[in-house]
Amino acid sequence: MEGVRNIQAAFDGIAEHWSPRVIAAANGQYVKLAKLSGEFLWHSHAGEDEVFIVFRGRFTLRFRDRDAVTLGEGDLFVVPRGVEHCPVAEDECWVMLFEPAETKHTGDVESPLTRSIDEQVRGGASASRQGAGPG
Ligand code: NI
Repeated sequence: MEGVRNIQAAFDGIAEHWSPRVIAAANGQYVKLAKLSGEFLWHSHAGEDEVFIVFRGRFTLRFRDRDAVTLGEGDLFVVPRGVEHCPVAEDECWVMLFEPAETKHTGDVESPLTRSIDEQVRGGASASRQGAGPG
């Protein structure tokens, strides 16, 4: 993860939606890229604020206890720790996230969409399947 990383090129390498990819680490934080499409799942992060920056497209963050926010290209928004949220992207949206390395992207919710931190570092479920060998 050292040296110059090109964000556009890194996004080009992501095929799967809702599968964050770690592109850099600094000060115990990960910089992640993710492509969003459709509706994710309701979750919260008890101990971590979550920073979203939109690189391309737009998406909406729904909340249980406050008005939804729609973020467009170049917008930045921080979801405070403990606040339940559900990201929704009508069309594909590319986002950058900053969060502590241990943050689980689906919070304490386990779902088929959940990707382990290891998968996020190594490149999604496809990478772990390759690691597991044929089948
Ligand atoms: Ni979240």
